[in-house]
Amino acid sequence: CGRTETDDSGGVQPALVATLVFLFCLEACLWVRNLRLKRRLPGPFAWPVVGNAMQLGQMPHITFSRLAKKYGNVYQIRLGGNDIVVLNGDKAIREALIEHSTEFAGRPDFVSFQAVSGGNSMTFSSYSKQWKMHRKIAQSTLRAFSSANSQTKRAFEGHVVAEATELVGIFHSLSAEGRYFNPGHALTVAAANVICALCFGKRYGHEDEEFKTLLGRVEKFGETVGAGSLVDVMPWLRSFPNPVRTIFLDFLDLNRQYFDFIQSKVVADRETDAIIGVIEAEGNTGLTEAHTDSTVSDLIGAGLDTISTALHWNCLLLAKYPDIQTRLQETIDREVGRDRLPTMEDRSALAYLDAFTYETMRYISYVPVTIPHSTTSDVTVDGLLILKDTVVFVNQSSVNHDPLTWKDPHVFDPSRFLDEDGRLDKDLTNNVMIFSAGKRRCIGDQIAKVELFLFLAILIHQCHFEKNPSQDLHLNYTYGLTLKPLDYKISAKLRGEPLIGT
Ligand code: HEM
Ligand SMILES: *[C@@H]1O[C@H](CO)[C@@H](O)[C@H](O)[C@H]1NC(C)=O
Ligand SMILES: *[C@@H]1O[C@H](CO)[C@@H](O)[C@H](O)[C@H]1NC(C)=O
Repeated sequence: CGRTETDDSGGVQPALVATLVFLFCLEACLWVRNLRLKRRLPGPFAWPVVGNAMQLGQMPHITFSRLAKKYGNVYQIRLGGNDIVVLNGDKAIREALIEHSTEFAGRPDFVSFQAVSGGNSMTFSSYSKQWKMHRKIAQSTLRAFSSANSQTKRAFEGHVVAEATELVGIFHSLSAEGRYFNPGHALTVAAANVICALCFGKRYGHEDEEFKTLLGRVEKFGETVGAGSLVDVMPWLRSFPNPVRTIFLDFLDLNRQYFDFIQSKVVADRETDAIIGVIEAEGNTGLTEAHTDSTVSDLIGAGLDTISTALHWNCLLLAKYPDIQTRLQETIDREVGRDRLPTMEDRSALAYLDAFTYETMRYISYVPVTIPHSTTSDVTVDGLLILKDTVVFVNQSSVNHDPLTWKDPHVFDPSRFLDEDGRLDKDLTNNVMIFSAGKRRCIGDQIAKVELFLFLAILIHQCHFEKNPSQDLHLNYTYGLTLKPLDYKISAKLRGEPLIGT
């Protein structure tokens, strides 16, 4: 700036020049300071008003992977008016979610989150005293279905076995006369029936219209939440007609209809001994009946799409990797025999099946990013300061493909999880991240593992999956809260006379 000071042009008072220079330097200093203060975190340049929304475009995951390569494990993007921090890699993510569990336990106050479960959703509400209580109740409810030898647990397993054996029959008829089929719909209905049996003590036919509508809504919900609704980061989009607003209004509608449906079921079934009974028996905990409804609605929403997606991938992978399928069949035939169906008691002898389930979770990472978190106070991760109330995306997929943790992360190999004695290596399975970690960790993980084990053990015991020889199976997917395989067709031949569960 020195040159202006020696300015000798007449008519301009030196004092004025000095003032202007001073102001200019002050402004420059403030700008630089702001640059440092506001952009402590690495990340791409953000445009005013929209931030990086335009750059993300239609395929957010592709762009994200470029950004992670360029800016490292903790980086920041700007969507609309929100700074969003993206966490990548095993080390940074565990440091955040486990060592700083309270600081990362919040949820953003997105408008779309307030539309879920009549505004009382536990899953989508931020960290608070009431949230803690709500989560505790939901957890103790689910514990009844997974704790050893309880009657509810047996009933739950019975539901899964019933749905799995029905699936065998449906797959068989869909494969008649050498046909190939997509198992997606049948799997969704089966998973939905397990969770509805849990919540309402009732199952539905595969062609039930009311039920089909419910399934459609849950699926659409996942698409909207997963795509990251633009309205959440640019609320002004709600104020005039535009395509984004239309999607958002549809989302509100969808949630209202879904929640009305749940409420009418809960009212009808208040007296039954299913999950609702368990929740309300918890008694005077300061939560209202509205919380029972929202708990049921949370559990159905969380437990349906995830389980059916997992099974969908499992079927695809069985057909894609015939050697792995053969090893699974041989293991099950050896440990269980052909005269009865597998049960939960067989689980420890069927380590290779659990290994297959874990490898699918790791390799596909079908819940690639958790539900968005937000910080409850300022916090430092990987040496970088993240301010309070920052939206945080946690990339689970990057944990599951972290080259520092995994040998050949891009190879599908279930046996990586077995030790020399053929037992499941717990240290390795604990490195897989699909249920998240810390204060927001999925509360349905135990139930999910039981359900996946029983479904798969029975399907593999009873069926042989084959791909259509004229069509290669690829692993392309649609992007949402869960990744779903694009259309594919397989056949499922019976491996003998079908057995009925006990
Ligand atoms: C393979 C199956 C499943 C997977 C992969 C899965 C994964 C997840 C993930 C990634 C989250 C978000 C965690 C976060 O935001 O950090 C979550 C939350 C949740 N899950 Fe699951 N889940 C599965 C099954 C289930 C089942 C069967 C239930 C219940 C019956 C369930 C109930 C919940 C609930 C209530 C939450 C919200 C927790 C909170 O916000 O505090 N999930 N799950
Ligand atoms: C998450 O990690 C995977 C694998 O490292 C990467 O391909 C993907 O783009 C990442 N996503 C985000 C949101 O950073
Ligand atoms: C699926 O992915 C493969 C590459 O793995 C690609 O060649 C193919 O065109 C994709 N198919 C579809 C339908 O997107």
